Amino acid sequence: MSDQKTVLSAIQPTGDMHLGNYFGAIANWVRLQDQYRCIYGVVDYHAMTMPYDVAKLRNNTWELITNLMAVGVYAENLFVQSLVPEHTELCWILNCFSSYGQLTRMTQFKDKSNQLGETSKDDFISVGLLDYPVLQTADILIYRADYVPVGKDQEQHLELSRDIAQRFNNQVGKPYFVLPEALYTETPKIRSTADPSKKMSKSAGEKHYISVFAEETAIRRQIKSAVTDTGAETGVMSDGVANLFEMIKAAGDMTAFTSLLDDYQAGSLKYAELKEAAANALVNLIRPFKERKMELNQDKGPLKNK
Ligand code: TRP
Repeated sequence: MSDQKTVLSAIQPTGDMHLGNYFGAIANWVRLQDQYRCIYGVVDYHAMTMPYDVAKLRNNTWELITNLMAVGVYAENLFVQSLVPEHTELCWILNCFSSYGQLTRMTQFKDKSNQLGETSKDDFISVGLLDYPVLQTADILIYRADYVPVGKDQEQHLELSRDIAQRFNNQVGKPYFVLPEALYTETPKIRSTADPSKKMSKSAGEKHYISVFAEETAIRRQIKSAVTDTGAETGVMSDGVANLFEMIKAAGDMTAFTSLLDDYQAGSLKYAELKEAAANALVNLIRPFKERKMELNQDKGPLKNK
């Protein structure tokens, strides 16, 4: 359908997919596929802007492609950035329409270069890190994307993409590139079960995230040890308890969600039951994902052994 709007998004291949990534972004990618022409990328070149390991990056890229397919992203909607040379070609052209000053003012560039300054001895900050949002712009403009589902952290980059596209369009005197717009969708924000004051993330360490493809027993163990109350809360639901409710809802077990919420309101909620329900909901959700992943891994198709 030619009047269908195009949605584009991309993710860096930084290893394991956890419940925070899944509920916060990927589940939304899967849903959007019914409504729009969707194009989703695994952007391995972007991952080269921070310190990386060559073999790991290559593995993570294919692992992520498999994981995305396993959770329901259609293979025909996926691209691997380094396999499509037009991304980097367009990036060069767009470099010539990008303002150096504006790039140096990007919040993410400032944050990441500070982070590198602190962690690496030689203080090396690559031009790639500065150019990161221009490559991202190429990812978007090349497919003439109308919408980019973004979180707050990517708003500034999307604004930059529009500036670059507009500058190019002015130069050629016609609306050659579509100016991409942000697509805001409310998605569940999953917190770390070990420290519910923080969002679930890999960088905080193993205890702080739950892999979508973890063993059932590991998931049950992690949920069982989830922090619930700190004792400091009065009259409001603690972050830890809210997080478990959020997981049950995000995993789609509305029956458990409603009845446990009734218990909570009546003051009769047992945390052991809440945890049990959360673990069950998660395990049921991901069972088919794991089966699909196994099938995909057995498939010795042309993409294997790269
Ligand atoms: N910068 C994005 C992130 O790390 C990844 C990304 C690269 C992206 N190209 C994109 C996101 C194009 C949306 C559209 O989250």
